[in-house]
Amino acid sequence: MEGLVMNATFWKDRKVLITGHTGFKGSWLSMWLKSKGTDITGYSLLPPTNPNLFEIADVSEKIRSVTGDIRDLTHLKTVFTQYQPEIVIHMAAQSLVRCSYDNPVETYSANVMGTVNVLEAARQTDSVRVALIITSDKCYENKEWIWGYRENDPMGGHDPYSSSKGCAELVTSAYRSSFFSNTDYPGHGVAVASARAGNVIGGGDWGHDRLVPDIMRAIMKDRPVAIRNPNAIRPWQHVLEPLDGYLCLVEKLWRHGSKFAEGWNFGPNDESCRPVSWIVANLSRLRSGSIRSEPDSAENPHEAAYLKLDCCKARRLLGWSPKLDLATALEWIVEWYREYSQSGNMREFSESQILRYENMRQV
Ligand SMILES: NC(=O)c1ccc[n+]([C@@H]2O[C@H](COP(=O)([O-])OP(=O)(O)OC[C@H]3O[C@@H](n4cnc5c(N)ncnc54)[C@H](O)[C@@H]3O)[C@@H](O)[C@H]2O)c1
Repeated sequence: MEGLVMNATFWKDRKVLITGHTGFKGSWLSMWLKSKGTDITGYSLLPPTNPNLFEIADVSEKIRSVTGDIRDLTHLKTVFTQYQPEIVIHMAAQSLVRCSYDNPVETYSANVMGTVNVLEAARQTDSVRVALIITSDKCYENKEWIWGYRENDPMGGHDPYSSSKGCAELVTSAYRSSFFSNTDYPGHGVAVASARAGNVIGGGDWGHDRLVPDIMRAIMKDRPVAIRNPNAIRPWQHVLEPLDGYLCLVEKLWRHGSKFAEGWNFGPNDESCRPVSWIVANLSRLRSGSIRSEPDSAENPHEAAYLKLDCCKARRLLGWSPKLDLATALEWIVEWYREYSQSGNMREFSESQILRYENMRQV
């Protein structure tokens, strides 16, 4: 079926602009596309953490890496005009729920106005044919129920981050209706879609207040990790899974335009929706019991207890589905951080995981 395997020929020399290329997902995406010979321009602030995958894996090598703020429309437009991207994948964001409680204004300005600016720059650049806006599973109005959210469920968000992602979805929808409408597609020729993925895990993440990085930091410092919500169930997925979905969707948008220009969920199978405590226990098993954990007794702001995506649409219409089960994803993560702690070549190691992933069949 078309869409099951990434089409390397499609990506060769394709001009792609990635915002957020210095972040965790952006670094993996840049390495993946670079391995296909894509002509990449990255537009981001500096890497958000230290250490970070962007520097460790030398991601800037052979890509055009522009340091810039998506809130600066003038600069963003200049970069679009200069490099004439055909495809835009917008991932830059203030990406952390807890940080959004401390910095709500910054979160909204980056995640909402930043999205407006990226779509506006795309609108004013004739070369753009596909724009994919990355939001989050948290964009939905969370009813804390057991069912997965579908693409046509209402947007919402309890905290500033989640709500900013719901807003980014509304912005995307309004831009599509107003300037890139599916009915006028033959005239404007631009397909605009959004993608909502769940809790992403993988090697090379050092994000603050994220479970796997918190655990890896604790191991490296030989101290216990504080666990906030052990019973909270999350749709865990290896970072390569949603990226695979994004790339599959972009190819469809390029070939079939407006038919696919809407919102898409890319979540894991039901078996990968596990409580935080399950992840801690299984990572500890893989590390021969070396993870010590303790309950986080601090006052913590509200975080969703249950959140799941319904991904029937991507399965049926894109032919996309997850390839890695959660146990294997955790093994890959442990291998990645082990290689890192042994001063391995992390570009080569990350690329080898990408290749392994490409060679896997869907589960
Ligand atoms: N990691 C997850 O579990 C997850 C889950 C769902 C959705 N997402 C979304 O996926 C995207 C990428 O996530 P990530 O985990 O790689 O995040 P990250 O925090 O690692 O990276 C964020 C990137 O955005 C850039 N950035 C932030 N503010 C910017 C600004 N004002 N101007 C320009 N660049 C800016 C950073 O420099 C960095 O390159 C984000 O939109 C995030 O909300 C992530």
